[in-house]
Amino acid sequence: MRISVIGCGYLGAVHASAMAELGHDVVGIDVDESKVAALAAGRPPFYEPGLPEILASATASGRLRFSTDIADAAGAEVHFLAVGTPQAADTGAADVSHVDAAFAALLPHLVEGALVVGKSTVPVGTAARLADRLAAEAGHASLAWNPEFLREGFAVKDTLAPDRLVYGVAKGDDHAASVLDHVYRAAIEAGTPRIVTDYATAELVKVAANAFLATKISFINAMSEIADATGADVTALADAIGHDARIGRRFLNAGVGFGGGCLPKDIRGFTARAEELGLGETFAFLAEVDAINLRQRRRVVDLAVADLGGSAIGKKVAVLGVTFKPDSDDVRDSPALDIAASLQELGADVVATDPEGIENARERRPGLRYASTMREALSGADLVILATEWNEYRTLDPEAAGRLVGERRVIDGRNVLDPAAWRAAGWRYRGIGRP
Ligand code: UDX
Repeated sequence: MRISVIGCGYLGAVHASAMAELGHDVVGIDVDESKVAALAAGRPPFYEPGLPEILASATASGRLRFSTDIADAAGAEVHFLAVGTPQAADTGAADVSHVDAAFAALLPHLVEGALVVGKSTVPVGTAARLADRLAAEAGHASLAWNPEFLREGFAVKDTLAPDRLVYGVAKGDDHAASVLDHVYRAAIEAGTPRIVTDYATAELVKVAANAFLATKISFINAMSEIADATGADVTALADAIGHDARIGRRFLNAGVGFGGGCLPKDIRGFTARAEELGLGETFAFLAEVDAINLRQRRRVVDLAVADLGGSAIGKKVAVLGVTFKPDSDDVRDSPALDIAASLQELGADVVATDPEGIENARERRPGLRYASTMREALSGADLVILATEWNEYRTLDPEAAGRLVGERRVIDGRNVLDPAAWRAAGWRYRGIGRP
Protein backbone atom coordinates (compact mmCIF):
# COMPACT_ATOMS: atom_id res chain seq x y z
CA MET A 1 0.00 0.00 0.00
CA ARG A 2 1.03 3.61 -0.41
CA ILE A 3 1.41 5.06 3.05
CA SER A 4 2.43 8.41 4.51
CA VAL A 5 3.54 8.89 8.10
CA ILE A 6 3.31 12.47 9.32
CA GLY A 7 5.64 13.20 12.22
CA CYS A 8 8.95 11.32 12.40
CA GLY A 9 9.82 11.33 16.09
CA TYR A 10 10.18 8.19 18.22
CA LEU A 11 6.77 6.97 17.11
CA GLY A 12 6.69 8.08 13.46
CA ALA A 13 10.24 7.15 12.48
CA VAL A 14 9.78 3.63 13.82
CA HIS A 15 6.30 3.31 12.33
CA ALA A 16 7.43 4.50 8.88
CA SER A 17 10.42 2.13 8.89
CA ALA A 18 8.31 -0.79 10.11
CA MET A 19 5.63 -0.18 7.47
CA ALA A 20 8.33 -0.21 4.77
CA GLU A 21 9.79 -3.38 6.32
CA LEU A 22 6.35 -4.97 5.83
CA GLY A 23 6.60 -4.17 2.12
CA HIS A 24 4.56 -0.97 1.90
CA ASP A 25 5.64 2.08 -0.10
CA VAL A 26 6.14 4.75 2.56
CA VAL A 27 6.91 8.44 2.79
CA GLY A 28 7.75 9.97 6.16
CA ILE A 29 7.02 13.68 6.58
CA ASP A 30 8.42 15.98 9.25
CA VAL A 31 8.88 19.74 9.54
CA ASP A 32 12.37 19.29 11.08
CA GLU A 33 14.86 19.44 8.20
CA SER A 34 17.79 17.96 10.11
CA LYS A 35 15.69 15.02 11.28
CA VAL A 36 14.48 14.37 7.72
CA ALA A 37 18.02 14.59 6.36
CA ALA A 38 19.31 12.10 8.95
CA LEU A 39 16.47 9.63 8.33
CA ALA A 40 16.81 9.93 4.54
CA ALA A 41 20.49 9.06 4.94
CA GLY A 42 19.46 5.96 6.92
CA ARG A 43 20.56 7.38 10.29
CA PRO A 44 17.98 7.38 13.12
CA PRO A 45 18.14 10.68 15.05
CA PHE A 46 17.75 8.75 18.32
CA TYR A 47 18.87 5.47 19.85
CA GLU A 48 16.51 2.56 19.33
CA PRO A 49 17.71 -1.05 19.06
CA GLY A 50 16.85 -2.62 15.69
CA LEU A 51 15.86 0.65 14.04
CA PRO A 52 19.14 1.35 12.20
CA GLU A 53 18.89 -2.02 10.45
CA ILE A 54 15.30 -1.69 9.17
CA LEU A 55 15.73 2.00 8.35
CA ALA A 56 18.85 1.29 6.27
CA SER A 57 17.31 -1.62 4.38
CA ALA A 58 14.06 0.26 3.70
CA THR A 59 15.73 3.45 2.48
CA ALA A 60 18.15 1.41 0.31
CA SER A 61 15.26 -0.52 -1.24
CA GLY A 62 13.52 2.70 -2.25
CA ARG A 63 10.38 1.72 -0.31
CA LEU A 64 10.98 4.46 2.26
CA ARG A 65 11.53 8.15 1.59
CA PHE A 66 11.44 11.21 3.81
CA SER A 67 10.41 14.76 3.06
CA THR A 68 9.64 18.07 4.74
CA ASP A 69 6.92 18.78 2.15
CA ILE A 70 3.45 17.56 3.09
CA ALA A 71 2.56 17.59 -0.65
CA ASP A 72 4.73 14.46 -0.91
CA ALA A 73 2.04 12.66 1.10
CA ALA A 74 -0.45 13.27 -1.71
CA GLY A 75 -1.78 10.16 -3.37
CA ALA A 76 -1.18 7.79 -0.43
CA GLU A 77 -4.05 5.47 0.46
CA VAL A 78 -3.31 5.64 4.19
CA HIS A 79 -1.93 8.62 6.15
CA PHE A 80 -0.75 8.00 9.69
CA LEU A 81 -0.70 11.00 12.03
CA ALA A 82 2.20 10.39 14.40
CA VAL A 83 3.02 13.87 15.66
CA GLY A 84 3.64 14.63 19.33
CA THR A 85 1.07 15.81 21.88
CA PRO A 86 3.29 17.47 24.50
CA GLN A 87 2.11 18.47 27.93
CA ALA A 88 0.84 22.06 28.05
CA ALA A 89 2.95 23.98 30.60
CA ASP A 90 0.03 25.64 32.40
CA THR A 91 -2.71 22.99 32.61
CA GLY A 92 -0.92 19.66 32.19
CA ALA A 93 -3.39 18.88 29.37
CA ALA A 94 -2.15 17.33 26.12
CA ASP A 95 -1.42 19.99 23.52
CA VAL A 96 -3.04 18.83 20.27
CA SER A 97 -1.90 21.77 18.16
CA HIS A 98 0.58 19.62 16.19
CA VAL A 99 -2.15 17.08 15.42
CA ASP A 100 -4.48 19.84 14.28
CA ALA A 101 -1.78 21.47 12.16
CA ALA A 102 -0.74 18.19 10.50
CA PHE A 103 -4.36 17.31 9.83
CA ALA A 104 -5.12 20.71 8.31
CA ALA A 105 -2.01 20.56 6.12
CA LEU A 106 -2.96 17.10 4.91
CA LEU A 107 -6.57 17.90 3.95
CA PRO A 108 -5.88 19.34 0.45
CA HIS A 109 -3.82 16.25 -0.45
CA LEU A 110 -6.37 13.54 0.30
CA VAL A 111 -7.43 11.46 -2.69
CA GLU A 112 -10.76 9.64 -3.08
CA GLY A 113 -11.07 6.85 -0.52
CA ALA A 114 -7.98 7.90 1.48
CA LEU A 115 -7.88 6.85 5.14
CA VAL A 116 -6.41 9.20 7.76
CA VAL A 117 -5.27 7.19 10.79
CA GLY A 118 -4.48 8.89 14.07
CA LYS A 119 -1.71 7.26 16.13
CA SER A 120 -0.88 10.15 18.47
CA THR A 121 -2.08 9.97 22.08
CA VAL A 122 -4.90 12.52 22.23
CA PRO A 123 -7.58 13.66 24.67
CA VAL A 124 -10.78 11.67 24.19
CA GLY A 125 -13.04 13.50 21.74
CA THR A 126 -10.26 14.59 19.38
CA ALA A 127 -10.99 11.93 16.73
CA ALA A 128 -14.70 12.78 16.60
CA ARG A 129 -13.82 16.45 16.18
CA LEU A 130 -11.39 15.69 13.34
CA ALA A 131 -13.91 13.33 11.70
CA ASP A 132 -16.49 16.15 11.64
CA ARG A 133 -13.98 18.40 9.99
CA LEU A 134 -13.08 15.70 7.46
CA ALA A 135 -16.75 15.18 6.59
CA ALA A 136 -17.14 18.93 6.02
CA GLU A 137 -13.96 19.57 4.05
CA ALA A 138 -12.90 16.26 2.48
CA GLY A 139 -15.95 13.99 2.49
CA HIS A 140 -14.25 11.60 0.07
CA ALA A 141 -11.80 10.49 2.81
CA SER A 142 -12.37 8.83 6.20
CA LEU A 143 -10.73 8.68 9.63
CA ALA A 144 -9.69 5.92 12.02
CA TRP A 145 -7.89 6.05 15.39
CA ASN A 146 -5.27 3.37 15.88
CA PRO A 147 -3.29 4.00 19.07
CA GLU A 148 0.31 2.87 19.41
CA PHE A 149 1.56 0.95 22.43
CA LEU A 150 5.24 0.80 21.60
CA ARG A 151 7.81 0.84 24.35
CA GLU A 152 11.10 2.57 23.79
CA GLY A 153 13.86 0.00 23.53
CA PHE A 154 11.37 -2.48 22.01
CA ALA A 155 9.72 -0.11 19.55
CA VAL A 156 10.53 -2.09 16.40
CA LYS A 157 9.27 -5.36 17.83
CA ASP A 158 6.19 -3.70 19.33
CA THR A 159 5.33 -2.19 15.92
CA LEU A 160 5.96 -5.30 13.81
CA ALA A 161 4.48 -7.75 16.31
CA PRO A 162 2.16 -5.79 18.64
CA ASP A 163 0.31 -7.28 21.62
CA ARG A 164 -2.97 -6.10 20.13
CA LEU A 165 -4.35 -3.86 17.41
CA VAL A 166 -7.05 -1.35 18.26
CA TYR A 167 -9.03 0.36 15.50
CA GLY A 168 -11.39 3.19 16.42
CA VAL A 169 -13.68 3.72 13.43
CA ALA A 170 -16.85 5.63 12.61
CA LYS A 171 -20.10 3.69 13.02
CA GLY A 172 -20.61 1.38 10.04
CA ASP A 173 -17.22 2.18 8.46
CA ASP A 174 -16.15 -1.34 7.42
CA HIS A 175 -13.82 0.13 4.83
CA ALA A 176 -11.48 1.62 7.46
CA ALA A 177 -11.09 -1.69 9.30
CA SER A 178 -10.40 -3.62 6.10
CA VAL A 179 -7.78 -1.07 4.99
CA LEU A 180 -6.04 -1.36 8.37
CA ASP A 181 -6.23 -5.17 8.17
CA HIS A 182 -4.39 -4.88 4.89
CA VAL A 183 -1.73 -2.60 6.40
CA TYR A 184 -1.17 -4.98 9.33
CA ARG A 185 -1.73 -8.24 7.43
CA ALA A 186 1.44 -9.87 8.75
CA ALA A 187 0.49 -9.25 12.39
CA ILE A 188 -3.10 -10.33 11.82
CA GLU A 189 -2.02 -13.55 10.12
CA ALA A 190 0.24 -14.18 13.11
CA GLY A 191 -2.89 -14.12 15.30
CA THR A 192 -2.57 -10.66 16.90
CA PRO A 193 -5.83 -9.83 18.71
CA ARG A 194 -7.71 -7.03 16.96
CA ILE A 195 -10.34 -4.87 18.60
CA VAL A 196 -12.57 -2.76 16.36
CA THR A 197 -14.38 -0.10 18.32
CA ASP A 198 -15.53 3.53 18.29
CA TYR A 199 -13.26 6.57 18.34
CA ALA A 200 -13.68 7.41 22.03
CA THR A 201 -12.90 3.87 23.18
CA ALA A 202 -9.80 3.68 20.99
CA GLU A 203 -8.53 7.00 22.35
CA LEU A 204 -9.23 5.91 25.92
CA VAL A 205 -7.56 2.50 25.51
CA LYS A 206 -4.22 4.23 25.13
CA VAL A 207 -4.48 6.51 28.15
CA ALA A 208 -6.12 3.79 30.23
CA ALA A 209 -3.22 1.42 29.51
CA ASN A 210 -0.63 4.01 30.49
CA ALA A 211 -2.60 5.15 33.55
CA PHE A 212 -2.86 1.54 34.69
CA LEU A 213 0.87 0.92 34.26
CA ALA A 214 1.71 4.15 36.09
CA THR A 215 -0.65 3.19 38.91
CA LYS A 216 0.96 -0.23 39.20
CA ILE A 217 4.42 1.34 39.55
CA SER A 218 3.24 3.93 42.07
CA PHE A 219 1.44 1.23 44.03
CA ILE A 220 4.65 -0.74 44.49
CA ASN A 221 6.58 2.45 45.21
CA ALA A 222 4.08 3.31 47.96
CA MET A 223 4.66 -0.21 49.30
CA SER A 224 8.40 0.51 49.21
CA GLU A 225 7.81 3.44 51.58
CA ILE A 226 6.00 1.28 54.10
CA ALA A 227 8.66 -1.39 53.65
CA ASP A 228 11.31 1.20 54.54
CA ALA A 229 9.28 2.25 57.58
CA THR A 230 8.89 -1.32 58.83
CA GLY A 231 11.99 -3.19 57.71
CA ALA A 232 10.07 -5.25 55.15
CA ASP A 233 11.43 -6.13 51.70
CA VAL A 234 9.41 -4.74 48.78
CA THR A 235 11.19 -7.00 46.28
CA ALA A 236 10.12 -10.17 48.05
CA LEU A 237 6.67 -8.67 48.47
CA ALA A 238 6.43 -7.96 44.71
CA ASP A 239 7.59 -11.51 43.93
CA ALA A 240 4.98 -12.93 46.25
CA ILE A 241 1.99 -10.90 45.06
CA GLY A 242 3.22 -11.22 41.47
CA HIS A 243 2.64 -14.98 41.57
CA ASP A 244 -1.05 -14.20 41.67
CA ALA A 245 -1.89 -14.29 37.96
CA ARG A 246 -4.51 -11.58 38.51
CA ILE A 247 -1.75 -9.22 39.68
CA GLY A 248 1.32 -10.34 37.69
CA ARG A 249 4.95 -9.55 38.48
CA ARG A 250 5.67 -7.15 35.60
CA PHE A 251 5.71 -3.40 36.33
CA LEU A 252 6.08 -4.08 40.05
CA ASN A 253 9.68 -2.94 40.33
CA ALA A 254 10.05 -0.31 43.01
CA GLY A 255 12.71 2.34 42.58
CA VAL A 256 13.22 5.90 41.41
CA GLY A 257 9.87 5.78 39.61
CA PHE A 258 8.64 6.22 36.07
CA GLY A 259 9.62 8.88 33.57
CA GLY A 260 9.83 9.24 29.81
CA GLY A 261 7.77 10.85 27.12
CA CYS A 262 4.56 8.93 27.83
CA LEU A 263 3.58 7.79 31.32
CA PRO A 264 3.99 11.10 33.21
CA LYS A 265 2.52 13.21 30.41
CA ASP A 266 -0.35 10.84 29.71
CA ILE A 267 -1.60 10.64 33.29
CA ARG A 268 -1.52 14.43 33.54
CA GLY A 269 -3.28 14.83 30.19
CA PHE A 270 -5.87 12.25 31.17
CA THR A 271 -6.51 13.96 34.51
CA ALA A 272 -6.95 17.32 32.76
CA ARG A 273 -9.40 15.82 30.26
CA ALA A 274 -11.35 14.07 33.02
CA GLU A 275 -11.66 17.40 34.82
CA GLU A 276 -13.01 19.03 31.66
CA LEU A 277 -15.63 16.28 31.51
CA GLY A 278 -16.64 16.91 35.14
CA LEU A 279 -14.93 13.74 36.36
CA GLY A 280 -12.08 15.34 38.24
CA GLU A 281 -13.01 13.66 41.50
CA THR A 282 -13.16 10.20 39.91
CA PHE A 283 -9.65 10.50 38.54
CA ALA A 284 -8.11 12.40 41.45
CA PHE A 285 -6.20 9.21 42.29
CA LEU A 286 -4.02 9.80 39.23
CA ALA A 287 -2.71 13.00 40.82
CA GLU A 288 -1.72 10.82 43.77
CA VAL A 289 -0.03 8.33 41.40
CA ASP A 290 1.95 11.28 40.02
CA ALA A 291 2.77 12.56 43.52
CA ILE A 292 3.98 9.15 44.74
CA ASN A 293 6.14 8.91 41.64
CA LEU A 294 7.76 12.31 42.15
CA ARG A 295 8.22 11.61 45.88
CA GLN A 296 10.44 8.62 44.99
CA ARG A 297 12.96 11.01 43.43
CA ARG A 298 13.01 13.12 46.60
CA ARG A 299 13.32 10.03 48.76
CA VAL A 300 16.47 9.00 46.89
CA VAL A 301 17.92 12.50 47.24
CA ASP A 302 17.12 12.49 51.00
CA LEU A 303 18.66 9.05 51.36
CA ALA A 304 21.79 10.25 49.57
CA VAL A 305 22.15 13.28 51.85
CA ALA A 306 21.63 11.09 54.92
CA ASP A 307 24.21 8.62 53.61
CA LEU A 308 26.68 11.43 53.14
CA GLY A 309 26.35 12.33 56.81
CA GLY A 310 23.67 15.03 56.54
CA SER A 311 25.20 17.29 53.90
CA ALA A 312 26.03 16.80 50.23
CA ILE A 313 28.24 19.88 50.01
CA GLY A 314 31.50 19.11 48.26
CA LYS A 315 30.83 15.34 48.21
CA LYS A 316 31.49 13.50 44.98
CA VAL A 317 28.41 11.59 43.83
CA ALA A 318 28.53 9.26 40.81
CA VAL A 319 25.13 8.88 39.16
CA LEU A 320 24.97 5.81 36.92
CA GLY A 321 22.39 6.41 34.22
CA VAL A 322 20.63 9.54 33.02
CA THR A 323 17.99 8.08 30.69
CA PHE A 324 14.47 7.30 31.96
CA LYS A 325 15.10 3.62 31.31
CA PRO A 326 17.78 1.43 29.76
CA ASP A 327 18.12 0.79 26.00
CA SER A 328 17.01 4.32 25.22
CA ASP A 329 18.73 7.69 24.89
CA ASP A 330 15.59 9.47 26.05
CA VAL A 331 15.98 11.75 29.07
CA ARG A 332 12.50 13.30 29.00
CA ASP A 333 11.15 13.50 32.57
CA SER A 334 13.95 11.17 33.62
CA PRO A 335 14.08 10.43 37.38
CA ALA A 336 17.82 9.77 37.07
CA LEU A 337 18.56 13.19 35.64
CA ASP A 338 16.30 14.91 38.17
CA ILE A 339 18.09 13.19 41.07
CA ALA A 340 21.50 14.17 39.67
CA ALA A 341 20.40 17.81 39.27
CA SER A 342 18.83 17.97 42.75
CA LEU A 343 22.00 16.70 44.40
CA GLN A 344 24.05 19.21 42.49
CA GLU A 345 21.72 21.97 43.71
CA LEU A 346 22.43 20.73 47.25
CA GLY A 347 26.12 21.33 46.68
CA ALA A 348 27.30 17.86 45.69
CA ASP A 349 29.98 17.42 43.07
CA VAL A 350 27.84 15.22 40.79
CA VAL A 351 29.27 13.26 37.88
CA ALA A 352 26.68 11.50 35.76
CA THR A 353 27.32 8.85 33.14
CA ASP A 354 25.24 6.85 30.69
CA PRO A 355 25.94 4.60 27.70
CA GLU A 356 23.63 6.51 25.33
CA GLY A 357 21.97 9.48 27.00
CA ILE A 358 24.76 11.98 27.72
CA GLU A 359 24.20 14.10 24.62
CA ASN A 360 20.49 14.55 25.33
CA ALA A 361 21.14 15.07 29.04
CA ARG A 362 23.69 17.78 28.31
CA GLU A 363 21.09 19.62 26.23
CA ARG A 364 18.53 19.49 29.04
CA ARG A 365 20.92 19.96 31.98
CA PRO A 366 24.01 21.74 30.60
CA GLY A 367 25.23 22.61 34.10
CA LEU A 368 25.80 19.00 35.14
CA ARG A 369 29.16 17.28 34.83
CA TYR A 370 29.20 14.17 32.62
CA ALA A 371 31.71 11.36 32.34
CA SER A 372 31.85 9.29 29.18
CA THR A 373 33.01 6.18 31.05
CA MET A 374 31.73 4.53 34.18
CA ARG A 375 35.31 4.28 35.41
CA GLU A 376 35.73 8.06 35.30
CA ALA A 377 32.38 8.60 37.06
CA LEU A 378 33.22 6.17 39.86
CA SER A 379 36.70 7.44 40.43
CA GLY A 380 37.00 8.88 43.94
CA ALA A 381 33.22 8.93 44.51
CA ASP A 382 31.87 9.32 48.05
CA LEU A 383 28.57 7.80 46.96
CA VAL A 384 27.36 5.84 43.92
CA ILE A 385 23.71 5.98 42.83
CA LEU A 386 22.47 3.43 40.32
CA ALA A 387 19.65 5.40 38.72
CA THR A 388 18.99 3.59 35.40
CA GLU A 389 19.33 -0.18 35.19
CA TRP A 390 21.54 -0.49 32.09
CA ASN A 391 22.96 -3.99 31.89
CA GLU A 392 26.51 -2.80 32.47
CA TYR A 393 25.44 -1.25 35.80
CA ARG A 394 23.36 -4.24 36.90
CA THR A 395 26.35 -6.50 36.36
CA LEU A 396 28.92 -4.21 37.95
CA ASP A 397 31.46 -6.12 40.02
CA PRO A 398 31.38 -4.68 43.57
CA GLU A 399 35.03 -5.54 44.19
CA ALA A 400 36.30 -3.86 41.02
CA ALA A 401 34.02 -0.84 41.55
CA GLY A 402 35.18 -0.62 45.15
CA ARG A 403 38.77 -0.14 44.05
CA LEU A 404 37.76 2.99 42.08
CA VAL A 405 35.60 4.86 44.57
CA GLY A 406 36.63 6.92 47.58
CA GLU A 407 33.93 5.49 49.86
CA ARG A 408 32.06 2.22 49.36
CA ARG A 409 28.51 3.58 49.58
CA VAL A 410 25.87 2.68 47.02
CA ILE A 411 22.20 3.53 46.58
CA ASP A 412 20.54 1.03 44.26
CA GLY A 413 17.74 3.16 42.85
CA ARG A 414 16.40 0.26 40.79
CA ASN A 415 16.81 -2.63 43.26
CA VAL A 416 18.84 -4.61 40.73
CA LEU A 417 22.09 -5.26 42.63
CA ASP A 418 22.66 -8.21 44.94
CA PRO A 419 22.78 -6.62 48.42
CA ALA A 420 24.64 -9.59 49.93
CA ALA A 421 27.40 -9.50 47.32
CA TRP A 422 27.84 -5.73 47.65
CA ARG A 423 27.88 -5.85 51.45
CA ALA A 424 30.35 -8.72 51.35
CA ALA A 425 32.65 -6.49 49.29
CA GLY A 426 32.53 -3.86 52.04
CA TRP A 427 29.86 -1.57 50.59
CA ARG A 428 27.17 0.17 52.56
CA TYR A 429 24.27 -0.88 50.35
CA ARG A 430 20.85 0.80 50.32
CA GLY A 431 17.99 -0.15 48.04
CA ILE A 432 14.46 1.24 47.80
CA GLY A 433 12.17 -0.55 50.25
CA ARG A 434 14.78 -3.19 50.95
CA PRO A 435 16.13 -3.79 54.44
C1 UDX B 1 5.22 3.30 27.89
C2 UDX B 1 4.26 2.12 27.72
O1 UDX B 1 4.83 0.94 28.29
C3 UDX B 1 3.95 1.90 26.25
O2 UDX B 1 3.02 0.86 26.07
C4 UDX B 1 3.41 3.20 25.69
O3 UDX B 1 3.15 3.06 24.30
C5 UDX B 1 4.37 4.34 25.92
O4 UDX B 1 4.67 4.46 27.31
P1 UDX B 1 7.85 3.64 27.64
O5 UDX B 1 7.63 5.08 27.99
O6 UDX B 1 8.77 3.30 26.52
O7 UDX B 1 6.45 2.94 27.29
O8 UDX B 1 8.43 2.95 28.94
P2 UDX B 1 8.06 1.75 29.93
O9 UDX B 1 8.85 0.57 29.61
O10 UDX B 1 6.59 1.58 30.03
O11 UDX B 1 8.62 2.35 31.29
C6 UDX B 1 8.11 3.59 31.80
C7 UDX B 1 8.84 4.00 33.03
O12 UDX B 1 8.44 3.19 34.12
C8 UDX B 1 10.36 3.92 32.98
O13 UDX B 1 10.90 5.07 33.57
C9 UDX B 1 10.68 2.68 33.79
O14 UDX B 1 11.96 2.73 34.36
C10 UDX B 1 9.58 2.74 34.83
N1 UDX B 1 9.26 1.44 35.45
C11 UDX B 1 8.79 0.42 34.68
C12 UDX B 1 9.41 1.27 36.82
O15 UDX B 1 9.83 2.18 37.54
N2 UDX B 1 9.08 0.06 37.37
C13 UDX B 1 8.60 -0.97 36.64
O16 UDX B 1 8.31 -2.02 37.23
C14 UDX B 1 8.45 -0.79 35.25
